[in-house]
Amino acid sequence: MKTRITDMLGIQHPSIQGGMHYVGFAELAAAVSNAGGLGIITGLTQKTPADLANEIARCKDMTDKPIGVNVTFLPTVNTPDYPAIIKVIIDGGVKVVETAGNNPSQVLPVLKDHGIKVIHKCTSVRHALKAQSIGCDAVSVDGFECGGHPGEDDIPNMILLPRAADELEVPFVSSGGMADGRSLVASLAMGAEGMNMGTRFIATKEAPVHENVKAAIVAASELDTRLVMRPLRNTERVMTNAAVERLLEIEKEKGADLQFTDVIEQVAGVYPKIMMEGTMDAGAWSCGMVAGLINDIPTCKELIDRTMAEADALINERLKGLAA
Ligand SMILES: Cc1cc2nc3c(=O)[nH]c(=O)nc-3n(C[C@H](O)[C@H](O)[C@H](O)COP(=O)(O)O)c2cc1C
Repeated sequence: MKTRITDMLGIQHPSIQGGMHYVGFAELAAAVSNAGGLGIITGLTQKTPADLANEIARCKDMTDKPIGVNVTFLPTVNTPDYPAIIKVIIDGGVKVVETAGNNPSQVLPVLKDHGIKVIHKCTSVRHALKAQSIGCDAVSVDGFECGGHPGEDDIPNMILLPRAADELEVPFVSSGGMADGRSLVASLAMGAEGMNMGTRFIATKEAPVHENVKAAIVAASELDTRLVMRPLRNTERVMTNAAVERLLEIEKEKGADLQFTDVIEQVAGVYPKIMMEGTMDAGAWSCGMVAGLINDIPTCKELIDRTMAEADALINERLKGLAA
């Protein structure tokens, strides 16, 4: 399938794997890119810029297709060395950067000078317009359904995507709640040029996370996510578990007085325990409502090929038949 996004990124299928903390390692990014999508390494999961340089090199050993790096600008306990991170991305020959959180104006000029395409992920039309106005090449429009940080506007993709289509000139991909060919065709119908998936790509053979994480996603329904840290205006959609229920109790007890330090035990430093060791109750981990649509653990190639075959059948059989 050819869209403005496949053309811009030099990929075969309009399918992107969003950056994911402690999931977006070289193995997953390479598998998605080898399957014809765009795989993305999560920059901030690497402890130092030198580690990120190694991860990029490892990924490039596994694929000669385009890959991306995610650079997230969110409140974190220690501010990362962003200039050094950008330098290793440039030196590593990466051609696409996915930014998220605060807008990437501080790093955009140097990325553009090096011909790197910047896709900014955002959760509202106003932030998408801001990204367009500062020169981002594309945006990833993340609806309220998404795993991770859905923002504070709570607009689901059924509204957000057509709103984005009405306002934006740069191409955009849908993000949040995307799982299969139905998601892709619906996204295209609403004006997107492709789709970005997070949770769906965790439940794949190549995702280098503990099998317990994949099993939890397969077992979960669309009712099993919770929104945490709302009172801090740093909302995160996570899979429910004992730690998350405790976190929500603390939020209730503290009310408007809640501070980040009150919930630090449930959110800080928990990803290695969950993703690497499979200790599923260790804390809050991002997961989308789309878990309700995920029932298997295919390879990335099987997933993308199946998605494209479903999309083709939907467009050329079901929809064509209805229009006749
Ligand atoms: C476990 C997990 C970790 C994530 N970590 C990040 C991250 O570090 N930076 C980022 O920009 N987005 C992160 N995301 C968001 C994804 O890139 C993507 O936008 C989101 O998962 C899309 O929603 P979906 O899960 O419904 O597909 C994460 C998502 C998940 C599920």
